[in-house]
Amino acid sequence: MTHRKQARLAILISGRGSNMQVFINACASGDLDAQVGLVISNNPDAAGLQRAAEAGIATCCIDHRSYSSREDFDQALVEQLNSTQVDLVILAGFMRILTPVFIAPFAGRLLNIHPSLLPKYPGLHTHQRALDAGDSEAGVTVHFVTAELDGGPPIVQARVPIVPGDTAATLAARVIEEEHVIYPVAAQWYLQGRLTLTDQGAYLDGNPIPVSGIAHTPDLR
Ligand code: GRF
Repeated sequence: MTHRKQARLAILISGRGSNMQVFINACASGDLDAQVGLVISNNPDAAGLQRAAEAGIATCCIDHRSYSSREDFDQALVEQLNSTQVDLVILAGFMRILTPVFIAPFAGRLLNIHPSLLPKYPGLHTHQRALDAGDSEAGVTVHFVTAELDGGPPIVQARVPIVPGDTAATLAARVIEEEHVIYPVAAQWYLQGRLTLTDQGAYLDGNPIPVSGIAHTPDLR
């Protein structure tokens, strides 16, 4: 983090942006001592772009289809973010696989949320996969981003039950409620200087975080 008065977040989205909205709200209410400096989407039709604009936040679309390689696209992201001066980059439903061109400059200040109990089910269709496997619970993980897809060190994880009759949609609805709770918690830890990434993994308050992340409980702060 820098020593500017208030930390600046950049949020990268591809779709509806409900997690993004949670950050916008938390910054506006003062629950999070930060401001959302920029929202970037790779998808010009992302509903979240409109939501961010309505909240008075600077938005920008960098359409991945305009770039001939993932690396060129990632470089464009880096340049945009560098011109905005951000302390923490929040991936919130950003549906692009990132290369080291993007990840390296932001290592340790780049978070993602993934709707599964990582290391289970990296990638897509997590809820259906949990149902197909006959799992009794599902969940969500906030993790540091590294070059391995959905493979960076977990920070915090919340669990929900899978109940009879669940579909991917009903399960997703249960999981996203937890997403909206745990993502700001992880960001707050970072902004408070409590959360770090080293070659050995993720640390909170100097203590190594377990490989499945810190288990979320209602009183977790
Ligand atoms: C969330 O389920 C998140 O975990 C996943 O993409 C979805 C984004 O939802 N990475 P939203 O755009 O934040 O509503």
